[in-house]
Amino acid sequence: MSRITAAITAVGGYVPEYVLSNDILATMVDTNDEWITTRTGIKERRILKEEGKGTSFMAIEAAKNLLAKSNTDPKDIDMVIMATATPDMPVAATGVYVATQIGAVNAFSYDLTAACSSFLFGMSTAAKYIESGRYKKVLLIGGDKMSSIIDYTDRTTCIIFGDGAGAVLFEPNEEGLGVQDEYLRSDGIGRNSLKIDAGGSILPTTHATLDDKKQFVYQDGKTVFKFAVSNMADVSEEILKRNNLTGDDIQWLVPHQANKRIIDATARRMNLPGEKVMMNIHKYGNTTSGTLPLCLMDYESQLKKGDNLVFASFGGGFTWGAVYVKWAYDPK
Ligand code: UT7
Repeated sequence: MSRITAAITAVGGYVPEYVLSNDILATMVDTNDEWITTRTGIKERRILKEEGKGTSFMAIEAAKNLLAKSNTDPKDIDMVIMATATPDMPVAATGVYVATQIGAVNAFSYDLTAACSSFLFGMSTAAKYIESGRYKKVLLIGGDKMSSIIDYTDRTTCIIFGDGAGAVLFEPNEEGLGVQDEYLRSDGIGRNSLKIDAGGSILPTTHATLDDKKQFVYQDGKTVFKFAVSNMADVSEEILKRNNLTGDDIQWLVPHQANKRIIDATARRMNLPGEKVMMNIHKYGNTTSGTLPLCLMDYESQLKKGDNLVFASFGGGFTWGAVYVKWAYDPK
């Protein structure tokens, strides 16, 4: 019997309706459309405004979109992995609730968290469950309600992030399609450059932490940028080398959407022209765990069976990596 590989067989996604444009942000903090566009490539982002709705709401919508498009019976799903940095609540995994709400009653579920690399690392995890032969349908959802952890008086962070979720289904493949290789990295040196100080076990939330706004994301943007721009390009170049590939062999780069300048640097290192790079940062900003599957949602109709895709991310922790995938289906 041929080796089982883990193929992506369906894609779904969801972004909230409310559009927070650069011009609206300019009425909230001291910034402007020109600065945000040239420094990041972002024009607008989506925000989940309705009270009482968390990351699970978007994850459920993304999963339902995938199930409907692919005509998948949720009862056939073996496992739901929820990649997120903004779970509904600190205890009671979000994925468990999502699985139940979509009718995946025969699945088990948990959350996987690695900041902006949550979805990329989740691809690795999902693939291993499939490759083991024990599980046939693994649903990987990546989503974040970044607006729940952003200080909208801090112009250095509020311009970057947005809300959204995407989902992919992994299934066994015997034609050699799907996940081919991965190169995943992490380094605790990044712990103080991108973090939320309060609300964890070191500094539980108190009135004082709230007064100091320590429930919100802190980012030393320059330092993160420096590490991101070199490390994301390094792993993407390395995964090509390891698989004897050049830019000519790659149909698509699927990069984490944190900053257009980081994406462009990665594409340059891989010798890829702009038309081979998935890009939707201008309309969604950085949705953290949502960026990679939302790219697939937007570009699914252009993907062909056998296309070589390199997924790449860099995020807090630091966490980063690249995954090489052979696409498994033609546009439906
Ligand atoms: O996805 C997780 C990983 N995260 C990332 O990959 C993000 C990496 N970092 C970045 O993308 C960039 O560092 C930022 C977009 C966050 C910032 O861009 P930058 O080119 O690194 O700007 P900077 O922090 O060096 O700031 C340049 C100037 C500063 O003013 P001075 O000191 O030169 O007078 C800032 O105060 O721009 C100022 N500034 C702003 N001006 C207008 C900072 N934020 C803003 C703003 N609008 N929103």
